[in-house]
Amino acid sequence: MRILFTGGSGKAGRHVIPYLLAQGHRVVNVDLTPLDHPGVDNLTADIADSGQMFNVMTSYANFDELEAGTGVPTFDAVVHFAAVPRILIKPDNETFRVNTIGTYNVLEAAVKLGIRKIVIASSETTYGVCFADGDVDPPALPVEEDMDVNPMDSYGLSKVINEQTARGFQRRSGADIYALRIGNVIEPDEYHHFKTYCANPAMRRRNIFCYIDARDLGQIVDRCLKTDGLGFEIFNAGNDTNSVDTPSAELAERFFPGVPITRKMGEHEALYSNRKIREMLGFREQHNWRNYVD
Ligand SMILES: NC(=O)c1ccc[n+]([C@@H]2O[C@H](COP(=O)([O-])OP(=O)(O)OC[C@H]3O[C@@H](n4cnc5c(N)ncnc54)[C@H](O)[C@@H]3O)[C@@H](O)[C@H]2O)c1
Repeated sequence: MRILFTGGSGKAGRHVIPYLLAQGHRVVNVDLTPLDHPGVDNLTADIADSGQMFNVMTSYANFDELEAGTGVPTFDAVVHFAAVPRILIKPDNETFRVNTIGTYNVLEAAVKLGIRKIVIASSETTYGVCFADGDVDPPALPVEEDMDVNPMDSYGLSKVINEQTARGFQRRSGADIYALRIGNVIEPDEYHHFKTYCANPAMRRRNIFCYIDARDLGQIVDRCLKTDGLGFEIFNAGNDTNSVDTPSAELAERFFPGVPITRKMGEHEALYSNRKIREMLGFREQHNWRNYVD
């Protein structure tokens, strides 16, 4: 597929794009800064500028596309990752502005230009635990996609708004728009932290003990691109097990006392459930943290 990918120069995108290239896709990265990786085409543009989003989505990927003499090819899909990726980087109102207006602009351009597959980065923070003031509990465990989302911070709120914007554009267009509630992204060189996490599981409470290997996130995005006809869907994007070695039942009892448990879980099954991506998208984890930690 010919894919326009926003925010591909960041922590997640720089692993997801190589995964997509390896599956044979062509990828144009639209970011404020280019990604220096063989085979990726770059356009620098600002998602907060609607004109630039319409423009990049009607652009050649690179000079080779001039050769056929048949005009600008269309994009088969848009993957939208560009964002201010958490609170406390920019002022709260700026985080909210860039994320909500940027996502509106990307979705509007894609839908109005007739692109039929769009994947957007939402976040675990929508459930309201991560950036809450004080300790907040999830509604129930394991955390699944049909649970209430009710964050109190500008970033989590921007992602809830983005999901609703996506739902509206899907309803208008009938295109497939999938929102990934991405967990804490872990790059290959970050697994040394997991010994510390195991020794101090409380460090992972705000992430509901979730992590997603950046390369496995690539597989999830690819599975979204290859799975058609679902309309608007929200998917938790996390790995199969928790980011600490304490059994799930013990974690729930110790860190989320009184939170209802809705079903029996496997011994280490992630409290941040990835059941939906496994069942609906056919995701199969490749990078469990235990492969990288003694
Ligand atoms: N990293 C995580 O643990 C995590 C967890 C949940 C969700 N997410 C979401 O996943 C996506 C990727 O996160 P990341 O960790 O790679 O973030 P990142 O900050 O490393 O990368 C984001 C990229 O977006 C670009 N960008 C920012 N503002 C832009 C603008 N106005 N126009 C064009 N490009 C712009 C940045 O230059 C950067 O390259 C984001 O939407 C983030 O909210 C990340």
